[in-house]
Amino acid sequence: MEKIVISGGKKLCGKIDVSGAKNAALAIIPGAILAQDVCRIENIPNISDVAMMLKILSHIGAKVRAINEHTVEIDSTNIISHTVSHDLTKYFRASYYMIGALLGRFSKARVAMPGGCDFGGVRPIDQHIKGFELLGASIFLDEDAIVDASADSLTGTNVYLDTVSVGATVNIMLASVKAKGMTVIENAAKEPHVVDLANFLNSMGADVRGAGTDVIKIRGADSLHGCTYSIIPDQIEAGTYMVAVAAAGGDVLINNVIPKHLDSITAKLVECGIEIDEFDESVLVRSFGRPTKCNIKTMPHPGFPTDMQPQMAVLLSLASGTSIINEGVWDSRFRYVEQLSRMGVSIKVDGKLAVIEGVDHLKGAPVKADDLRAGAAMVIAGLAARGTTEIENVIYIDRGYEDIVEKLRSVGADISRVTVPGMEFAVAN
Ligand code: EPZ
Repeated sequence: MEKIVISGGKKLCGKIDVSGAKNAALAIIPGAILAQDVCRIENIPNISDVAMMLKILSHIGAKVRAINEHTVEIDSTNIISHTVSHDLTKYFRASYYMIGALLGRFSKARVAMPGGCDFGGVRPIDQHIKGFELLGASIFLDEDAIVDASADSLTGTNVYLDTVSVGATVNIMLASVKAKGMTVIENAAKEPHVVDLANFLNSMGADVRGAGTDVIKIRGADSLHGCTYSIIPDQIEAGTYMVAVAAAGGDVLINNVIPKHLDSITAKLVECGIEIDEFDESVLVRSFGRPTKCNIKTMPHPGFPTDMQPQMAVLLSLASGTSIINEGVWDSRFRYVEQLSRMGVSIKVDGKLAVIEGVDHLKGAPVKADDLRAGAAMVIAGLAARGTTEIENVIYIDRGYEDIVEKLRSVGADISRVTVPGMEFAVAN
């Protein structure tokens, strides 16, 4: 097993290049199987969730060829199987996109229930199922927690999502893009990665309109063809580094971003007294004093992203005054507070609310990453803390952050990755 070790208190200065968006890549790669052709996908992040998704495609018969570290060619001509077993789906949440993609390709899918980040609450898929059934699929969960979906053929329909759901929006798009007739998704998610999937599918000859609004219309296409497509930069990775600079201090140019995607994060950091200059494809973040308090309510896009909530809690723990975070997306997403409390934060959690009393400084300590974004929060806390922080369960961080140790070291952080002797084969719990 590996740990990340950080000696905190170093200012960050220099430039960081952001990778392609994890949550766009995880939606787009399954989309490649919708055409019996070759798709070339560029700017793919080199992270373990993406590697797992590509492994799934290989497993069902696609030919996956790595052109370089960030480009793959996927030939889906000879896919033979519509079944994805638990040993492939259990590591991450987005494996359930294979249900929509296989339904879209074959009108049938047998996909084991997914794994993924456990923030401490349930992560239902009832809205995904609702969409598939309205398209004409019959769905049941068999004894091995396999989602079995099948239809003679899929027919366009109207789906009103009871709750704004990125996953359900993506899965219904994938399933409906070759259905007969028009599908309308109302109360759709508007995240940048939803728009990126729509643009990718349209590059394949699909007819998806309205992505980025809460009504997406998909006119079923008879067939799709291959394409070359470059994935958007990762909004959450960029935001994570912005908050790292804000908390540790310094000035860093964060490159390969779409500033518009960062609006809510930028607005909150400016409210905390952080200086941010926007350029065409980068943002310059400067932080020299103690941040000031602010209140945050996480919401679906264009609201403040829930995937930035743990990271912001660290910054607000160092702010002057009392801040409140209201988690508006997940039923519970404050499990990480227990680990942060070991570093001297003063956070009181009550259901979806966290009240944060700013403290003068954090103290380095041994902590665990409970999930991907909690792990990112531990890294930020370690960078800002006095003393040494050791972070276990690095496997969660590697699911969503390419080269996080190297990127932070390149701007002056004293950070390294070490293998824990004798724990080489231990698996994160
Ligand atoms: C996606 O998860 C992201 N994951 C999550 O990011 C992110 O936190 C989330 O969207 C919200 O932005 C990927 O894109 C792979 P949802 P998803 O469906 O699709 C409820 C990360 O760190 N809901 O938008 O699973 C659900 O319980 C990860 O990169 C239902 O009730 O999230 C939640 O309260 C962590 N029924 C809300 O909707 C459903 O059928 C939003 O969930 C589906 C969702």
